[in-house]
Amino acid sequence: MKSTPAGRVSRRAFLAGACGLAVAGMAAAPAAAESAIKRLPDGRVAVRVAKVPSLAKVGGAAQLGTVKGTPVAVVRTDTGYEALSLRCPHAGATVQRQSPGWVCPAHGSQFEIDGELVRGPATTSLAEVPSRLRRGVLTVG
Ligand code: FES
Repeated sequence: MKSTPAGRVSRRAFLAGACGLAVAGMAAAPAAAESAIKRLPDGRVAVRVAKVPSLAKVGGAAQLGTVKGTPVAVVRTDTGYEALSLRCPHAGATVQRQSPGWVCPAHGSQFEIDGELVRGPATTSLAEVPSRLRRGVLTVG
């Protein structure tokens, strides 16, 4: 951003910067997802599960970004919804969605969609993150 010689930001530079931020914010998430996934003031995340298309079917998943410093996803299981830490239990890399489950890019550990360990070197499943479903809203963290 351009500053005036007195160290103040010119009006033109301020407006150009503000517009750039707005565009970047809109590109980050579709409007429907923004209204369905909301970060709460205490760091938890509230998910209106019926409004997230990827959670409509068993086996679907929605990545929430970080919740209290941990990368987290919500998955739809045959019994409901489960929140998982996407931090690999082997050495802490963030696992990535690769159908039908999750794969760690660091050393290749594989996990089922519900976090169950399929193949190491990890020796445990992905950790569950506390969550509670109430009136269609899953509160995670
Ligand atoms: S950190 Fe994931 S397999 Fe090593």
